[in-house]
Amino acid sequence: MEDTIGMEQSTSFRRLLTALLFVLLCLGAVAPATAQEILDPDPNMLAPSQDPRRTANGLAQTPPMGWNSWNKFACNVNEKVIRDTADAIVSSGMKDAGYHYVVIDDCWHGPRDANGFITQDQTRFPSGIKALADYVHARGLKFGIYSDAGTKTCGGRPGSQGHEYQDALQYARWGVDYLKYDWCSTGSRNAEEAYAVMSDALRASGRPIVFSLCEWGTSKPWLWASRIGNLWRSTGDITDKWVGKHGYSLGMSTIADLNEPLWPYAGPGHWNDPDMLEVGNGGMTDAEYRSHFSLWALMAAPLIAGNDIATMSPATRAILLNRDVIGVDQDSAGVQGHRVWKDGDREVWSKPLADGSRAVLLWNRGSTAATISVDWAMLGYPASLTMKARDLWLHKDLGRIGGRFTASVPSHDVVMITLRS
Ligand code: GLA
Repeated sequence: MEDTIGMEQSTSFRRLLTALLFVLLCLGAVAPATAQEILDPDPNMLAPSQDPRRTANGLAQTPPMGWNSWNKFACNVNEKVIRDTADAIVSSGMKDAGYHYVVIDDCWHGPRDANGFITQDQTRFPSGIKALADYVHARGLKFGIYSDAGTKTCGGRPGSQGHEYQDALQYARWGVDYLKYDWCSTGSRNAEEAYAVMSDALRASGRPIVFSLCEWGTSKPWLWASRIGNLWRSTGDITDKWVGKHGYSLGMSTIADLNEPLWPYAGPGHWNDPDMLEVGNGGMTDAEYRSHFSLWALMAAPLIAGNDIATMSPATRAILLNRDVIGVDQDSAGVQGHRVWKDGDREVWSKPLADGSRAVLLWNRGSTAATISVDWAMLGYPASLTMKARDLWLHKDLGRIGGRFTASVPSHDVVMITLRS
């Protein structure tokens, strides 16, 4: 009996203690550290893109525009090509139209010096990279260069793996404004970590440098790169063909299809990159190049010309210098447009613009001319609304239109308009 009373007393005492402990816990008097650790994990343990301390570098608020040596010159690049191109970008009016970055792609590199600093190929760039950057800057342009997150670039030159901070410092000393960073010879490296290391190295260099990730979309950089870089390749390499897979490379329309669904991930400072332009390289017709340029602008893609600017034809110039279309690409809202209607080879794409208007693309992928209409319903407009239309390839205002706009579109060509209230 006494035992039972004793047991009851000790049970009540334990209950009292438990209640007291509960009250103390609620007041935060006991073990706050444990609760805190669960709520605020150590940022050093997070993936780079999840680190709350990471901020975007603030560059490339509109899609970068410029020129890159790869699509035309591949490894046959040298300082004369770069200088001639910089001169031609100015004299052709491309600079005034917004093409500012002159980027040397692969194959500029020499060996690393005794201290591990990267040097230039002495035969191709005898005056040195600093002198070349100065030449480009003297023309009011910006200067870009290429490296790789692995041990070797895709062209077999020294990569930046293990030399990231040293390379970023060297680029800053040379006056580099833009780095394209490739993904060859990376073995089992994790892409997010590898690109974050170079991103941090560029920040530490003290020079504002646009960071272009060239990882071909393999590890879905649109999910993690928006505060690591400014643009990321979304697909394999482009080739100067209308459609299809050609070895490791992809035709223009095939790339457009792969890049299109990624539209929600693009925005000011961080862009999907469906690769550089092939306009003027000779593998497609002028109509196909018009499609290429219009689609890239509609998708707010970087407009990096890839042809020989010094010798381009008037037809190529008319495409690359179409200011109406460039204006769609460079719109300050930075929304990537996308497909809103498809029927076989006939498609309608739309891009909302900062002033409330729309860019609309009627694209005929077929081998004969086709009639294509954009119904206001495809754009979310009431049918009764009348809009002022402008044809961006004819450079012509079309007056006010209500309910629907219809055009005959030649084979493999586009009609591109803006609609304003
Ligand atoms: C990769 C890239 C290309 C180009 C080459 C250079 O294929 O995707 O854009 O930079 O390497 O070797």
